[in-house]
Amino acid sequence: MFATIKEIQQNIPPAVPFEKFVGREAELQNLHSSLQTSRQVAIVAVAGMGGVGKTELATQYAKQHLQNYRGGVCWLSAQGIDVGIQILRFAQLKFKLIAPDDWELADRLRYCWQNWQPGEVLLVFDDVTDYKKQVQPYLPPESPRFKVLLTTRLEFDKTEEKFMRTVPIQLPETVFSALRKNPEEFIQEMRIAAAVKWYELGDISQAKAAEIAGLTRAEFINALSRYQVDFMQYTAQELAQELANVD
Ligand SMILES: Nc1ncnc2c1ncn2[C@@H]1O[C@H](COP(=O)(O)OP(=O)(O)OP(=O)(O)O)[C@@H](O)[C@H]1O
Ligand SMILES: [Mg+2]
Repeated sequence: MFATIKEIQQNIPPAVPFEKFVGREAELQNLHSSLQTSRQVAIVAVAGMGGVGKTELATQYAKQHLQNYRGGVCWLSAQGIDVGIQILRFAQLKFKLIAPDDWELADRLRYCWQNWQPGEVLLVFDDVTDYKKQVQPYLPPESPRFKVLLTTRLEFDKTEEKFMRTVPIQLPETVFSALRKNPEEFIQEMRIAAAVKWYELGDISQAKAAEIAGLTRAEFINALSRYQVDFMQYTAQELAQELANVD
């Protein structure tokens, strides 16, 4: 049986009032379509520096789209107690689902997923710093009804000394005027444009793209918005890689 809107179970943290939440319409829209289009468990990450509003965006999204998630919105704090335990507690508190406590955690979780309230379910993993530890073991079964949204700070370029090669490029004098740039600025812009496009096409990771562009991760995210490319799109695999490279 599907829950009516009033019956939808959720533990979304308090959000800023709707009228005080500013300028995120496009991101909200984007999040929704990314989460809705997937045929498997949809995993979408909101990434960015501390304090840019990742958690707030996730909170607003969950609140505003509550009616889409008849199976509930389960908010999990990756920095809190074991995420598996948080899921069990949610299932127990909201759906009275209790697996025998002499079972292994993985089996108890499976029991919860199998008996979860019908309808689409939104799981939010907030402030993920270690995908393999905090998310991967607790992902719901492969079913399009489960949607996973996570927020993460990622780390910004730890600049190591890198082996550099100089590649001479010959360009006609006339091209520089096209973008009103001197040769150094022109080449820099070319690097950024290429990195942004390849990143957008999904050919390269965000870390690699920033490297190609010669920018820090934060600067690259700015460049993405300058080129109107969304910085929030990650596949699960990409994200696992990104986070694996952090430390
Ligand atoms: N679009 C917005 N409109 C109004 N207030 C916002 C908006 N986005 C964020 N805020 C406020 O800014 C503060 C920081 O936002 P938030 O906690 O979401 O950042 P964060 O990116 O999750 O940071 P961290 O990486 O530290 O978790 C919060 O008080 C939040 O309510
Ligand atoms: Mg946060």
